[in-house]
Amino acid sequence: MTINAPRGTNDILPPDSFKWQYLEEKAKEICRKYNYKEIRTPIFESTDLFIRGIGESTDIVEKEMYTFKDKGGRSITLRPEGTAPVVRSFIENKLYGKALPFKFFYSGPMFRYERPQAGRYRQFHQFGVEVLGSDNPLVDVEIIKLGIDFLKEVGLSDFFVEINSVGCKECRPPYLEKLKNYFSEVNQELCGDCKRRIETNPLRVLDCKVESCQEIIKDAPKITDNLCDKCKDDFEKVKNGLNTLKIEYREVPTLVRGLDYYTNTAFEIKSDELGSQDAIFAGGRYNGLIEEIGDRDIPGVGFALGLERLEILLEGKELDIESGIDIYIVTIGESAEREGFKYLNQLRESGISADKDYFGRSVKSQMKDADRKNSNYTIILGNEELESGQATLRNMKSGEEFSVVLSELSEKVSDLLDN
Ligand code: HAM
Repeated sequence: MTINAPRGTNDILPPDSFKWQYLEEKAKEICRKYNYKEIRTPIFESTDLFIRGIGESTDIVEKEMYTFKDKGGRSITLRPEGTAPVVRSFIENKLYGKALPFKFFYSGPMFRYERPQAGRYRQFHQFGVEVLGSDNPLVDVEIIKLGIDFLKEVGLSDFFVEINSVGCKECRPPYLEKLKNYFSEVNQELCGDCKRRIETNPLRVLDCKVESCQEIIKDAPKITDNLCDKCKDDFEKVKNGLNTLKIEYREVPTLVRGLDYYTNTAFEIKSDELGSQDAIFAGGRYNGLIEEIGDRDIPGVGFALGLERLEILLEGKELDIESGIDIYIVTIGESAEREGFKYLNQLRESGISADKDYFGRSVKSQMKDADRKNSNYTIILGNEELESGQATLRNMKSGEEFSVVLSELSEKVSDLLDN
């Protein structure tokens, strides 16, 4: 029986892998511009980190984590997201003692046992940023702008921004009481999940997609009408900042996130082209998370972007991707193959991407192979060329030909490529 990749996972094959490299490179470029530095945390962490960080009653912790005991009996979880690990690392490495804020970015695989569908996988990849150590609402605006810059840079324009404030530890508890009371009165009309959530996580009821629940949610008390003065003020500052940068947004008072650590600003950048999994990137503030994990009252804010979703949106779009090679060496006969192999390695040592045939194919088949490999130039080496020390370089796109002295092959190819 053949073995296939586990459900909800994908192989990223060439030429698609070039698209991934391109996206990761663009993300890095934007982060350089914004002065965000890369952080790499382990793929697996202690399970407690996510229980405490994301929240016990969230879907992720209740149903979606890949958790197992390692051989030492420790409970380990494949990271379902990147924020809690970044915060763990920040605390463990005592980075709070250095100049704040710390601005991080990361990109890599995350794991959630979800029901796979278009845009939703069990192993997926996020590019994310986290800023630790500043509660200035302009930082919230900065990261939204960073994400939008990235989307624009890769050629997307069809997306919209939704924002909300989910309050803080002062104003949220009384709001949650109000919400509980409201939903308890209409309990019978809610779906099973929502009935359960009234007690465990009433905020999540606002996120229910069931039509009959939507009717009830419409008239529920709004968090933005129940914010304390500081949260209200901060939310105004976020909106003003977005206005200053001419970033259009919709205020959505029912926007709550699936992770419990959020406070104040919550946002989602969505596209109608993505169907039900419509968030390209999403995040917000988590001013209580660092204290929850590490007993230090330090604020944080960040987002994560689903690279698979971005890839879906980029399908069929022309990207500035170089997936071919500079030169392909065609050889005729054994001694030419040996010499060709030498030239191949000289070219590579000079920084030129080069390849050759390893099947002893005919010249015609080697030319076809060069075409398949999307080579800019070919050169044919046979006994005649080796004896004269000269050969012909052919530009595969224009058909132009250039005579070249073999001892100067690398320089000649470099010159041609530069021009
Ligand atoms: P999240 O909303 O769970 O937030 O995920 C962020 C993004 O990751 C989503 O908008 C989506 O693009 C992508 N994503 C999530 N789950 C899947 C999946 N199963 N398959 C494919 N793509 C997916 C977080 O993860 C937070 N850590 C974001 C954050 C950072 N908040 C503050 N800082």
